[in-house]
Amino acid sequence: MKTNNDQLSKLPADEKRQLLIEALSYIQGFRKKIVVIKYGGAAMVQEEFKVSFARDIVLLQSLGMYPVVVHGGGPEVTEATKQYGLESKFIDGLRITDISSLKISEMVLSGTINKEIVANINAQDGIGVGMSGKDGRLILAAKMEHPEADLGYVGEIVRINPELILTLIEKGYIPVISPIGMGKDGNTYNINADTVASHMAVALKAQKVIFMTDVKGIMRNDELIDHATRNEVLELIEEGVISGGMVPKVRGMLHALENGVERVHIICGMDHHAVISELFTDKGTGTMLTII
Ligand SMILES: Nc1ncnc2c1ncn2[C@@H]1O[C@H](COP(=O)(O)OP(=O)(O)OP(=O)(O)O)[C@@H](O)[C@H]1O
Ligand SMILES: [Mg+2]
Repeated sequence: MKTNNDQLSKLPADEKRQLLIEALSYIQGFRKKIVVIKYGGAAMVQEEFKVSFARDIVLLQSLGMYPVVVHGGGPEVTEATKQYGLESKFIDGLRITDISSLKISEMVLSGTINKEIVANINAQDGIGVGMSGKDGRLILAAKMEHPEADLGYVGEIVRINPELILTLIEKGYIPVISPIGMGKDGNTYNINADTVASHMAVALKAQKVIFMTDVKGIMRNDELIDHATRNEVLELIEEGVISGGMVPKVRGMLHALENGVERVHIICGMDHHAVISELFTDKGTGTMLTII
C-alpha cells in the first residue's frame, strides 16, 4: 500500500480519524520497546525506497520506540564479487565464502552499505551509528560446519554482547549493524543477516523483529501466506516451497519466537512505508509467523 500525503488527503474525514485512533492505540504500547528491523535484498537497492525506509526508522524513534537496524546486502556483494572476477556460490541460501570473497563481503557490507544507511538516517535528522559485529565485541562468531561442503568464512553466532547497543539506544542513537562477526580465533566471519537479526532481537529482548525483503512475504504458488505456524513453515521447507534465502529467514524467525520475541513478520521493502503500516495499523502486510 502506498501511503503518501497525497493519498491520505483523499481519504474521507472519518476514515482519517479512524486511522489516527488506531495508530495512537499502538503508539502507547510501543514506548521504549525495542524493534529490530532486518533490511535486505533488492529492497535496499532502489533510491526511493532507501529514503522512505530511513524516514520510517527516524519516525519510529520520534514516537518513543528504539529501532535497531540489521542489514544484509546479498545483491551488492554478488555484484562486487562479479566485478572482481569471482563467482558467488550458495548452499542452502548461504554464501560460500573463501578469503577473497570474505574481503569483498566485509568491504561492501561494513563499508559501502552500512555507511549509506547511516547517511540516509542522518539525512532524515536521525543519528545513525554504523558498526559491524566486531565493534564493541557485538557478535562473537565461529565457523559454521556444513555436512556437504566447506563454507569457508561463513560464521554462526556464538554470543551477542548487547551492551553497546543498549547504551546507544538509551542515548538516542540508531544503531545500524552489518552481519560480520569475529571469532575467538581472530578470524572474520560472514554471517547470514537474518540470523544476526533474530539473535540480536533475542539478546536485546526486543518486542518485535521485522524482516524487510524483496518479496511480499512467504509465497506459495504465487499467493501470499499471511500467517503460518512453526509446523507449517517446517513442512514448506521440507517440500521445497520455502528455499534459498527464505530458509535462514524463516529459521531465524522461529529462533526469535522460541526465545521470547513476541512478534515476527516478513514485509515487503518495496512497499512505501511498509514498516509503518505493519506497526501502526490493524491490518498488517506480509507474513506473520507464530509457534502454534
Ligand atoms: N516460498 C518463498 N516465498 C518467498 N520468497 C522465497 C520463497 N522461497 C524462496 N524465496 C526467495 O527468498 C528471497 C529472499 O531472500 P534473500 O536472501 O534473497 O533476501 P534478503 O534476505 O531480504 O536479503 P539479504 O540476503 O541481502 O539480507 C526471495 O527473493 C525469493 O527469491
Ligand atoms: Mg538473505
